[in-house]
Amino acid sequence: MNDVKSEIKNYWNERSSTFDLSPGHIIANRKEENAWKSLLQDKIGGNDKKILDIGAGTGFLSIMLAEMGYEVVGLDISEEMMERAKNKAMGQGVKVEFKLGDAENLPFETGSFDALVNRAVLWTLPDPKKAIAEWRRVLKPGGKLCFFLHEPHPNGVADRVRRHFGNLFILIAERRNPWNTLYDGKKLGVELPFRGGVEPSVITKLLEESGLKNVSAEPMVEIGRFKREGLPLYHKIIASKHAQYCYTAVNPK
Ligand SMILES: C[S@@+](CC[C@H](N)C(=O)[O-])C[C@H]1O[C@@H](n2cnc3c(N)ncnc32)[C@H](O)[C@@H]1O
Repeated sequence: MNDVKSEIKNYWNERSSTFDLSPGHIIANRKEENAWKSLLQDKIGGNDKKILDIGAGTGFLSIMLAEMGYEVVGLDISEEMMERAKNKAMGQGVKVEFKLGDAENLPFETGSFDALVNRAVLWTLPDPKKAIAEWRRVLKPGGKLCFFLHEPHPNGVADRVRRHFGNLFILIAERRNPWNTLYDGKKLGVELPFRGGVEPSVITKLLEESGLKNVSAEPMVEIGRFKREGLPLYHKIIASKHAQYCYTAVNPK
């Protein structure tokens, strides 16, 4: 593993203990949960499918998909994230196979999965183009790709002031120092192409250029609304209005 990947892995190992304390990372209410499940069902189809969740973290998508009856493999670069995901899945009585690995070099045979999902992962990868080629490789012909990613964070002066103000609350409520992140400034030593979010047109072009078909990008309006309803007040104040998109594509037969 190269230095950048090791640093990213170490960051998420450390972040794992507070990850689920961030309200944006977990389900806010039953309405949000139902909306996620119906979106996933709609995009992936019948539940006789084998699905890979890449950058599974503490198991947000993996556990939900296993609850829906899919056969799920969750993969992550961070041992600590995987350990938490394993414990959560066990606690919730669902079966998920968790595996350590790199999203850009997947430890699976070509054509292993009916569908591939992920949430909030592409932004933290050094080489998104390579990742998407690799994701396509492990999909069966006709297999579906479905992932979730934010558009760019607004970064005007007012937005930055609001974020700094909100960080004070995060410091207390989520027991972590939000200013101390690998992803701000030059700590990582390389520029991650999609850090800070990405325009949908950039992603759809990348998917099309990789040879995937039926590419689409949809803003997740309903899930965004349910999520906001469930946020604590300090997050409602600091939350900026950058939408999360659902991207889908098909590996041609
Ligand atoms: C923002 S978290 C998202 C976690 C989860 N998908 C969710 O939505 O709750 C990003 C995750 O990507 C993982 N990750 C980062 N780089 C990775 C890589 N190269 N390969 C696999 N996982 C990676 C991190 O360990 C972390 O768990």
